[in-house]
Amino acid sequence: MEKKDIQSTKVTSPLPTREGLGVGLFPILGKVIYGKYPLVYLDNAATTQKPRQVVEAMTEEYYNVNANVHRGVHFLSQQATELHEASRETVRRFLGAGSAAEIVFTRGTTESINLVASCFGQAFMKEGDEVILSEMEHHSNIVSWQLLQARQGIRLRVVPITDDGRLQMDAYEKLFNERTRIVSITHVSNVLGTVNPIKDIIRIAHEHGVPVLIDGAQSTPHMAVDVQDLDCDFFAFSGHKIYGPTGIGVLYGKEKWLDCIPPYMGGGEMIKTVSFEKTTFNELPYKFEAGTPDYVASTGLARALDFVSSVGFDAIEAHERDLTAYAMQRLMEIEGMKIFGPDIEEHDAVISFQVGNIHHLDMGTLLDRLGIAVRTGHHCAEPLMRRLGIEGTCRASFALYNTREDVDALVAGIQRVSMMF
Ligand code: ALA
Repeated sequence: MEKKDIQSTKVTSPLPTREGLGVGLFPILGKVIYGKYPLVYLDNAATTQKPRQVVEAMTEEYYNVNANVHRGVHFLSQQATELHEASRETVRRFLGAGSAAEIVFTRGTTESINLVASCFGQAFMKEGDEVILSEMEHHSNIVSWQLLQARQGIRLRVVPITDDGRLQMDAYEKLFNERTRIVSITHVSNVLGTVNPIKDIIRIAHEHGVPVLIDGAQSTPHMAVDVQDLDCDFFAFSGHKIYGPTGIGVLYGKEKWLDCIPPYMGGGEMIKTVSFEKTTFNELPYKFEAGTPDYVASTGLARALDFVSSVGFDAIEAHERDLTAYAMQRLMEIEGMKIFGPDIEEHDAVISFQVGNIHHLDMGTLLDRLGIAVRTGHHCAEPLMRRLGIEGTCRASFALYNTREDVDALVAGIQRVSMMF
């Protein structure tokens, strides 16, 4: 993005202030860093903080309900199973899926993508068949396909991006041919904040008879997703990036696909009958859930989604849009500032930047000394860094509890660091 005056959308935040939705619900936001500076947490694209009700629901389950799910006739096991399945229903509602059978619990977006690459690949791809990815993908949506490439000789085709970090849609259309088997693309870039036109991406793929996997890790915390309206074939997201616990994520898959791809892992839970001669598999979604699931994390995830729904995406989007626009405007006041990614219209709550020739690691380390948490480096997107001709960036990313004061602290911090160089 070039230096120019960016108009803030001037929305009065509909969300409560730091004291309300902030420290009151998220105690960690009240932390003082190095005994001196109030925490300014701007690393939400890496992971979000958790509201009290998420942590408390999980503690309560461990103290009062804990038992393995789907296995016991006893009281606690049935209670834990009911909670776990109710959480699946909460996820189904959150994504607008038609059936709970289409909601597979995984460990996170990475596992969800690996599952599709591995199982869809095994069922439908052979040597020379192609997957379409983009230049802005996270490593999880590159390497998982390369593993399949090593096993089955598939080809990766890559949609290029423009200099301001948008997908080149005309180039995308031209990548389709008779060997294209699947498209796997991110909804929102974890580096550039670009919101991709996934409805168009999905429509175009379907016109070619090709299914689509959407990496929703960076979109689900910020915007309403309706998988039926999008008509995506698979959709992946992580709990911990949406105010939920670590170690749990979701793969949504249309029943017609989940039915005809093989299981990912073998073990308990995913079978109907087992003998040394032949095993039959469980019904959906259990066919993809080998082993004891993290039934406590699923409760935490459901409470996190309840929390997000209770605030509402209208309020979240308005607040974060205001914050992002304000941040872009204020950051551009800084001498030597370069912000990567598109203009505010297509830019989500993630801002990657570089100031003059100050190394991103130096910037991040010095900001940390002022209590400001940002991420530095390649952000698990080395091919994108190469495309941009850089080694890494500093990245500030927002959540619904961030405020304009946080942005002011970031700007003041960067100015202070800049003076040292
Ligand atoms: N994928 C996470 C990030 O972008 C970890 O920070």
